[in-house]
Amino acid sequence: MTLKKEVRVHPIRDGTVIDHIKAGQAMNVLRILGITGSSSAVISVAMNVSSQDIGSKDVVKIENRELMEKEVDKIALISPNATINIIREFGVAGKHRVELPEMVESMVRCANPNCISNTNEPVSSKFEVKKGPIRLRCIYCEHVITENIVEQLL
Ligand SMILES: Nc1ncnc2c1ncn2[C@@H]1O[C@H](COP(=O)(O)OP(=O)(O)OP(=O)(O)O)[C@@H](O)[C@H]1O
Ligand SMILES: [Mg+2]
Ligand SMILES: [Zn+2]
Repeated sequence: MTLKKEVRVHPIRDGTVIDHIKAGQAMNVLRILGITGSSSAVISVAMNVSSQDIGSKDVVKIENRELMEKEVDKIALISPNATINIIREFGVAGKHRVELPEMVESMVRCANPNCISNTNEPVSSKFEVKKGPIRLRCIYCEHVITENIVEQLL
């Protein structure tokens, strides 16, 4: 007999479930959403849950909140297969996969300290996004960020 393995935390009436987060990235998702120990957000986090489709995953459930486009784009940068489920009246009212944008602006800090986007000039950072293993190429100095993108998030 096979048992249906699904996370059972208390159901939420309205809010957002971020599902299929790359295992190990839940805390970074919370950081992107600005949820810290001192915020009053009602959330549940499941880490390293087994998933039929992707082996293991993290899941974040947030009550009474829908995400902004910029937050979803940042989540895509650290977990390109995450899905965003909008919960209304205890049911899934909408579902979409995060999508990597072709360009990210004012979202990531260039790792080159001499880049014009890191000076006092009124120039905001802008990167071209390459898929596969995600690579961000600065349009100003051509610096490429491949690792620790989360550390560079603005
Ligand atoms: N009312 C709710 N409260 C909390 N979590 C919920 C609620 N409704 C659904 N979820 C969670 O939202 C996610 C998506 O729900 P859904 O029923 O679409 O699952 P699914 O069919 O496995 O989706 P998928 O095909 O995207 O994996 C699951 O992680 C589920 O546990
Ligand atoms: Mg599922
Ligand atoms: Zn740069």
